[in-house]
This record gives sequence, structure tokens and C-alpha cells, in this order.
Amino acid sequence: MVSIESSREQWGSKIGFILAAAGGAIGLGNIWKFPYVMGQNGGAAFIAVYLLCVLIIGLPILIAEVLLGRTAQRNPVGTFKALTKNKMWRAVGGMGVVAGFVILSFYGVVAGWSFGYIIEAIKGSFFDYATPSAAGEHFNELTQNVYWITGLLGLFMGLTMMIVYFGINKGIERGSKIMMPVLFVLLLIMMFKGLSMEGAEKGLEFLFIPNWSKLTGLSVLEALGHAFFTLSLGMGAMMTYGSYMSKKDNVITASAQIVALDTLIALVAGVAILTAIFSTGQNPAEGPGLIFHTLPIVFTKMTGGYIFSIIFFILLSLAALTSSISLLEVVTSYFVDEKGMQRHKAVLLFGTVAFLCGVPSALSFNILSDTKIFGLNFFDMANFLASNIFLPLGGLFISIFVAYVWGFDKALIELKKGAEEIFEKRFWEIKFWKIVIKYFCPVLIFLVLLHSIGVLTMIINLFQ
Ligand code: PHE
Repeated sequence: MVSIESSREQWGSKIGFILAAAGGAIGLGNIWKFPYVMGQNGGAAFIAVYLLCVLIIGLPILIAEVLLGRTAQRNPVGTFKALTKNKMWRAVGGMGVVAGFVILSFYGVVAGWSFGYIIEAIKGSFFDYATPSAAGEHFNELTQNVYWITGLLGLFMGLTMMIVYFGINKGIERGSKIMMPVLFVLLLIMMFKGLSMEGAEKGLEFLFIPNWSKLTGLSVLEALGHAFFTLSLGMGAMMTYGSYMSKKDNVITASAQIVALDTLIALVAGVAILTAIFSTGQNPAEGPGLIFHTLPIVFTKMTGGYIFSIIFFILLSLAALTSSISLLEVVTSYFVDEKGMQRHKAVLLFGTVAFLCGVPSALSFNILSDTKIFGLNFFDMANFLASNIFLPLGGLFISIFVAYVWGFDKALIELKKGAEEIFEKRFWEIKFWKIVIKYFCPVLIFLVLLHSIGVLTMIINLFQ
């Protein structure tokens, strides 16, 4: 049993932190969302913009977030409380806690589908499809079943709660150390399988030869939003994980490793999924249902499809789990640090609240399918709000806070701890980080947010 947290836990090892944080970053964003968003936005050109966003904005903000958490050794609200007297900033941490619920609400639904598809794969359901459209129909049939969809959401939230319940070392770190290597191996197997299929080169062309004409202003917005989502930025998840880090560890290299792993996994998943989709003549622009509509057909057409289908959905579920625990940890750490709640009580209570928040998203596919807010159902709204509003807004505030409120004088003293070598030998890296946080991030994110709000008003006008 985990004791009341009078002395705060810390990661047991450097690799424990990297795997847990990379596990938080690598999730449905990489395997479910990246392929469909990239498929809708023309492939390679989108990937190029996305990579730029990850490098120029994602990495510097990740460094800032981890640094803030490590400095204050607190949850997001407590971090701002510790670093400034101005109470307004606590709201930024609070927004992160709210965003945690919003993300969990649709994330848990997709993760639930993934669990359900492990069972479908074991049952061999994919081999019953007479036509390609049967896969989509089967998916719709399953998601229309209220008990299937909410039951699986509940199962997923239950497992998430179980891991977070056991705390940082015995729960999150241990779970990530087991799950992440399994995930890497399974994904590599899937990639080699995809590459060995006939016609795989068409998928590779789509992924790596850019067609710039397909790129629109909206794709740039999507790319930035996705960079935030996939790196878990802007809502305090990385701040919370950073808060369990020791001051001897190097924030800069750890952040770079997390970004490298996350990007690598997205690309490997992209290759695995797109080669399979192209070699079986499917449409990559299918939308959020992409992997559930198209991959089952791919599995029926590939040799060894039965076993690969089971592997794939286990992989997807593991990836979802290592991310959802980071989401629930943000909420939990807030109630443990700030409200003096016991960890296990906070986990049980807010895990249940997160489940309840997920119910409207789950019902968006059946009884609530006609209930729309500004033309979007609960699920689509939560998905849009998270990537396109909450996370970039959080990132904007974090960069403003570090550059103009906390100030670089203090930030650099903290950043140097554990990173002395970089400060001595590669000073330009620090300079680059400062310039990006001070000018690039606020301006670029602000422009993108304006665009997001424009899109939102457009949707609202369309449906009024
Ligand atoms: N980064 C996670 C993914 O790619 C999602 C996530 C976002 C997790 C924000 C935590 C916080 O699936």
C-alpha cells in the first residue's frame, strides 16, 4: 500500500523517467491519430511541417515544462503557486487539470475500441468480412452498442486507475518499463510486415515524397496542434512527470530523447500502417475511423493476418495505457499536493469522474449522435478542443511565463543543474532555446490559436 505522500516520490532511475515520459508521449496520438491526420492532409508535406513544429516549438516547450515541474517539485497548479505570487497563473495549471479530463474523455473511448478489437481479433471476426465496406459496418455496429462502448471505456479507465493507484515507482515506472519495450518490438514487427507487402512502395511514396500543393493553412494548424498532442504538451503532464525528477538529471537531453522516441515511433507507425493500407488499395483519408475501418481488411489480406491483428491491437492498447496514466497522474497529483488527499482516494474518485466525463463521448456514437455542440458531437468537440485550443493555449502561457514572468535568470540557474556540460560546450543551444521561448513560441502559437478560433467560429456559423 502506498503511504500518505509526506515525502514525495522520485523516479527510481533516469531510464525509468525517460520510459515513463516517452510512454506518456507515445500513445493513440502516434498510432491512431498521426496516420489519419497525415492521411487527410496529404502525407509527406504534412510530415515535413509537423517535424518542423516538433523541433522548433515542441522541444523547447517540453524543456520548459519539465524544467518548471522539476524546479517546483509540484503538480501544475502548485508549480505556478511556488514560482510566482501572482495568483492568475494558477489558473493556467488549473486549465491543465481540466484539459486532463477533456482528453481522457475521448481518449478512453478510442482506447476502449482498441481493447474491444483485441477480442474481435482473437475471435477472428475480421475474416468474416465479405466486402471492404463490411469492416466499416462492423465498426459502426459495435460502436452503436451502448454496453460495448461504455463497458470498454470503463474497463480501460479501471486499468488506468489501477496503475496510478500504486504511485510513481511501483505503478507508473514499473508499468512503463514493462510496456514500452514490448510496444517497440511489436511495432517494429508490424513495420517489417508492412514493408514486405507487395505495393508497399506506394505507401512509402505517400509518406516521404511531398506534394506541397496538398498543404493548406489548415494543415499547418493541424500540424502544430498534433505536435502538442503527441508530445503531451501544454496541460502539465510533462510538468508533473518532471516534478518527480531529481535535480541531478539533465532536463535538456532527457527532453531531446523523449522527442526523438516519440517522433521515431510516429514515423514507424506511419510506415507500418500506410504501407499496409496502400498495398491493399485502401483510402488513407478515411478520418478517425482509419485504423479500425481499414486495418482489419489489411489483416485479412496479409499472410499471418490473424496473429498480426492481435499483436496490433494489444500494441495500441498498451500505448494508450501508458499515456492515460500520465493524464490521470496530473489530476491525482493536484489533489494529493494541493488538497492533501490520499493518493488512492484521489485516484478512485477522479478516475470515476474521468469515466463519467467519457460517457457522453462514448454515447456520441449511438444515443447522443444527434446531440451537437456547435455542430460537433461530444467526442469530436473534446478531440478538437484538446489539440487545437487547450494544449496550444497552455503552451503559449508556459512560454510567456518562463520568458517574462519567472524570467531567464532564474530559469537558466535551474536548467544548468544536471546540464553543466551543455552550458559550457554548446552555449548556442541554450541561446536558441531562449530565443524560441521568448519570441517564436508566443507569436507562432498566438497566430495558430487565432486561426483555430476562426475555424471554430466558422463551424458555429455554419450550424446556426
Ligand atoms: N501524447 C499522448 C498521445 O500521443 C496524448 C496525451 C496528450 C497524453 C496530453 C497526455 C497529455 O497519445
